[in-house]
Amino acid sequence: MGYEIKKVADVADVLKKRLKTMEHKPSILRAIELKALADEIPLLKPEKRAAFGKELNKLKAELQKMVEVAEEETTKLEPIDVTAPFDVNTRKRPRPLSSELGSQNPIMADQDELINIFARMGFTAIESRQIDDDYHMFGSLNFPEGHPARDDYDSFVTAEKDKNGKPFIAPAHTSTMQNRVLKQFKPNLEKGQAIAVVIPGRVFRNEDLDPRHEHTFQQIEGVYVDKGIHAGHLIATLKTFLQEYYGQELDVKTQPFYFPFTEPSFEFAMSCPFCRKKGCNVCSYSGWIEILGCGMIHPNVLKEAGIDPNVFTGFAWGVGTMRLTMMKYGIEDIRHFNSGKLEFLRQFK
Ligand code: DAH
Repeated sequence: MGYEIKKVADVADVLKKRLKTMEHKPSILRAIELKALADEIPLLKPEKRAAFGKELNKLKAELQKMVEVAEEETTKLEPIDVTAPFDVNTRKRPRPLSSELGSQNPIMADQDELINIFARMGFTAIESRQIDDDYHMFGSLNFPEGHPARDDYDSFVTAEKDKNGKPFIAPAHTSTMQNRVLKQFKPNLEKGQAIAVVIPGRVFRNEDLDPRHEHTFQQIEGVYVDKGIHAGHLIATLKTFLQEYYGQELDVKTQPFYFPFTEPSFEFAMSCPFCRKKGCNVCSYSGWIEILGCGMIHPNVLKEAGIDPNVFTGFAWGVGTMRLTMMKYGIEDIRHFNSGKLEFLRQFK
């Protein structure tokens, strides 16, 4: 092969490789690089021009074919769905997009950490859902129709109605999942094992926004059922979890409260992890921080899931995790999390 022909072959190789990766628009690539080769023809010795030209034409035809095939393939691709956990075109996970520019929102990073703590304590995680119905929001949780406690969970509803003529609801708490997980894990009890599930999820409330209130926030629900379970197990579990998360010994205390789905119900407080009960602005100089709602699962809630409350008892809790994260990192305004502000997010890279 003469030097010139070799040159055509080299360019052809490069072009073919590039076409395969579709780095450039094929038409632009052809126009620039083949023209450069064609421009060399007049510079060649006359006897060499014919062979070079022939080789060049062959390359053009070959590239033309490749361009057509590549273009056809491109039109077959689906548009990229940025929310899909896999590449929509190859169906492979993970999607081959660089994650160098982005970072995980501290809500999700912290949620992973919280779930890991519970996983080490033997809890399985099941994700909550972002649209639910009246039965799971209220009925299955022992809120009778028209009960005033329903007003504490004012959320967003759809105009569309479900088969019972009720609107669908953006859940105001992750407790909507209790009936589902109790039913799903009931076979554990029959095998002599406990039901131990945590349910992370996004919840929604009709709230006036301020540094401590968001309309969209994150909760982790916990459900534990077995024979002989009492409030001591509840307190020990939550204390252990909070100590793990804050990396220090904490004191905890409970106060009576009311939730329709627990009896008794408690408000759960921990000693302030900042001032260790000396008093500071995080704990409003009280030394204590009320952190979550919890209680012993109401017999009606167990019955509704087909579990005999005379044989089994259990506890449950629901904790707003953004408040936990705020206290861990000294974040002063809950609205930062969903603001999309890069100055905020970059601090957690
Ligand atoms: N769902 C309650 C709320 O968001 C929190 C809660 C309290 C959850 C007691 C529970 C529980 O599972 O037992 O206000």
